[in-house]
Amino acid sequence: MSKLPIHMDVDTGTDDAIALLCALLSEDQIELKAVTTVAGNVPLDLTSANTLNLLRCMGSKVKVARGAEKPLERELECTVCHGKTGLGSVQLPESQDSFYEKDAVDTIYESACSADGELIFLGTGPETNLAKALMKYPDLKDKIKRIYVMGGALHGGNMTLASEFNAYVDPEAFKIVVNAGIPMTMVGLDVTLKTAIPMWFLDEMRKIDNPYARMAVDVMDASLAVNREYGYDEANIHDALAFIAILYPELLTLKKYYVDVETQGVLTRGMTVADFTGVCEMDPAKQENIDCAVNVDLEGFWKVLLSLFGNRGGSKV
Ligand code: RIB
Ligand code: CA
Repeated sequence: MSKLPIHMDVDTGTDDAIALLCALLSEDQIELKAVTTVAGNVPLDLTSANTLNLLRCMGSKVKVARGAEKPLERELECTVCHGKTGLGSVQLPESQDSFYEKDAVDTIYESACSADGELIFLGTGPETNLAKALMKYPDLKDKIKRIYVMGGALHGGNMTLASEFNAYVDPEAFKIVVNAGIPMTMVGLDVTLKTAIPMWFLDEMRKIDNPYARMAVDVMDASLAVNREYGYDEANIHDALAFIAILYPELLTLKKYYVDVETQGVLTRGMTVADFTGVCEMDPAKQENIDCAVNVDLEGFWKVLLSLFGNRGGSKV
């Protein structure tokens, strides 16, 4: 079976790191075309260094291109939930490799042009890079088969009462992506807030003796430690679910809604607003456009992760 061409755009961050490890472990099913970085959880220098250092210390040579250091129109707002560096207490060996010579926008376009219309784009940070690429290259929208975004929420938020972090940080970019006319799966908080790492799962992961599982455990331990500093006794691996959903779509229950993004609101900045009642159904410009994740087979998710990390050589000691 031919490999799925995937481009990942990340703001590494602890859960982005888990998603990247899952991608490296899925090399028999996917071709990771490139990884691009964006400012989000922490500033661009850190998200970029975290991404390059992680991939290189895991033996991956996939190109890493730096992207936007701030949102399209707003000042950058980071989060403390991933610690000062973005990876909590995890110290990665510093790679001597250079970043890819192209920037994120041109690298996204390069990935799309090389995938013959079959590219899957996974965004796990603010969508600034993809929005810029769509504006710079009008034909890009015809070269991406489907976008998966960890972002948005049909109900509630984690940055404000109304919005999820990635959509909140760059609502203008999220709006451009949502309205690009590209098939899109929104893996939002409605499902990712259910991915709080269970202790039994972490215990099982500790039994797996290979570099990928050890790195994942270190990152998840670090994420839990940072969250506990702020009074939360759990840590979610939002982005890992968005990646796994690409290879295991049966884990998600999807509902298609017309969705748009609030960019003018104060209380509602970055809110992903869905038409639950069909009030826009007569408006040809507001037809159902986004496949929204409304439920997740959590047991299946943890099982897939244990199998992915456990099958990479190394034994359950
Ligand atoms: O709201 C959670 C999302 O925002 C995750 O992608 C996390 O890494 C942060 O980017
Ligand atoms: Ca992220």
